[in-house]
Amino acid sequence: MTTQHNSKYSSYGRSGGRLAPFVLGILFTIIVAIAGGWAYLKYGRPPVAAADPAFPFEAQIVHVPLGARIDKELQKAPFGTSEDVFEAGAKTYATSCASCHGTPGHDSPYGKWMYPQAPQLFKKHIRGNVVGVSDDEAGETFWKIKNGIRLTGMPAYQHLYSEAQLWDVALLLKNADQPMPDPVAHLLQQESTAPVSVPSPVSPK
Ligand code: HEC
Repeated sequence: MTTQHNSKYSSYGRSGGRLAPFVLGILFTIIVAIAGGWAYLKYGRPPVAAADPAFPFEAQIVHVPLGARIDKELQKAPFGTSEDVFEAGAKTYATSCASCHGTPGHDSPYGKWMYPQAPQLFKKHIRGNVVGVSDDEAGETFWKIKNGIRLTGMPAYQHLYSEAQLWDVALLLKNADQPMPDPVAHLLQQESTAPVSVPSPVSPK
C-alpha cells in the first residue's frame, strides 16, 4: 500500500518538472491571443458599417447556431391556411414588415442597404425560382418573426402580436409564391401609402 502511494507520488514529482513550462506556454499563448484579438478590434479596422464587406466565415458563424436553435424549437402551425388567415397576415405584414421586406412588385428602398440585407419576401431569389421564404417551413419563419434575429435589425414580434397573428404572417409568407385572392393582394399593396401604425403591445401570458 505504502509503496504504491510512494511510487505515485514520485511519478507526479517527476512529471511536475515538465509541467511548469507547459502550463506557462499555454498561459503565454492565451495572453498573446487575447492581446492580438484586442489589437485587431482596435487597430485592424474590422467591418462595423452596414456597407462594409463581411468578416471571413461571418455567415457560417451566425447561421450554424441559429439553424441549430430553430431546429430544436421548431413548432407546427396550429391551423391551416384560408383567405381569412392570409388577409390577417397581409394586414400585419403591410403594417410592420413591408417597409423592410417589400411587397409584391415593390421593393423596400432601404432593405438592401441594411447589413445583413433584409430579403424581399415577395420576390424571386437572384438565383433560382424560390420566392422569399416560401421554401422554408412555416415553423422556421414563425420562429424568426417571434424571436427576431440578433444583430441583424430583424425585430422580435412576440410582444407586439399574438402567436395566432404571427402564424397568420408565417403562413402568408410560406405561400408568397402562390397567387393571392384579390382582397389579400389589395391589402399587401396598401403598404406604400398607408401611414405606419404601431400595433399595441400584447400583454405577456
Ligand atoms: C427594420 C427592418 C425589418 C423589419 C421591420 C422586419 N424585418 Fe424581417 N429581417 C430584417 C433583416 C435585416 C433580416 C435578415 C436577417 C439575416 O440575414 O439573418 C430579416 C429576416 C427576416 C426573415 C428571415 C429571412 C430568411 O431568408 O431566412 C423573415 C422570415 C422575416 N425577416 C420576416 C419579417 C416579418 C414577418 C416582419 C414583420 C412582422 C419583419 N421581418 C420585419 C429586417 C426587418
